[in-house]
Amino acid sequence: MSLQSFGLDERTYQYLLDHTPAEPEPLARLRAETAEDPKANMQIAPEQGHFMALLAQLMGTRRYLEIGVFTGYSSLAVARALPADGEVVALDNSPEWTDVAKRYWQEAGVADKIHLYLDEADRSLDTLVATEGRSGDFDLAFIDADKENYPVYWEYCLELVRPGGLILVDNVLRYGRVADPAWYGDPMTEAIRTFNDKAVADERVDLVMLPIADGLTLARKL
Ligand SMILES: C[S@@+](CC[C@H](N)C(=O)[O-])C[C@H]1O[C@@H](n2cnc3c(N)ncnc32)[C@H](O)[C@@H]1O
Repeated sequence: MSLQSFGLDERTYQYLLDHTPAEPEPLARLRAETAEDPKANMQIAPEQGHFMALLAQLMGTRRYLEIGVFTGYSSLAVARALPADGEVVALDNSPEWTDVAKRYWQEAGVADKIHLYLDEADRSLDTLVATEGRSGDFDLAFIDADKENYPVYWEYCLELVRPGGLILVDNVLRYGRVADPAWYGDPMTEAIRTFNDKAVADERVDLVMLPIADGLTLARKL
């Protein structure tokens, strides 16, 4: 979630975009279509999509797990960066939003790489672990669904990602509200604050929190 990196003034943000490779055509078109949706601000920022794709390539990612698809921006950005035999497992519970995603995956020629699980994410994750035996199978995971369930998704990702693999967690700064006493008590802000406290104390990972977009934690499973 977040249409641009927060905390940067407009001029500096524009400069950053001007010095980032142009948003590829299918992603730019998807952003334009999603802009019509009242929930458009759930989409990740273009620089974050570019960063995630670069990261996927740097890591030689073959299998990517995504929790929170929306209209498909992050899944499309990463799928384009995977090799021909790469796989995206994408979890969401919204048929309407993922119908948009499916259309763009098809148009971009990456639909064959992407398996969508349309259900509550915790149920899909349980299926991946308990029924499909996918523990330790993923190189990269991205948590970007309902904030209250981040701790649940975190545990599943630690199970599903291989040692040395990476878990990305979105919205960890929540527009700066996590550090703003005026927002203490706000349920979603508290959920992120609780999660951030848990993650930094978790000895199963090494992590860094980056102020890109709405804050992105990168956690390497040890
Ligand atoms: C912030 S958006 C994801 C944005 C997406 N990564 C992108 O790049 O555009 C969050 C998504 O999580 C989904 N979601 C929320 N709660 C969920 C749940 N309990 N199970 C599955 N999906 C859920 C919503 O339907 C929504 O599409």
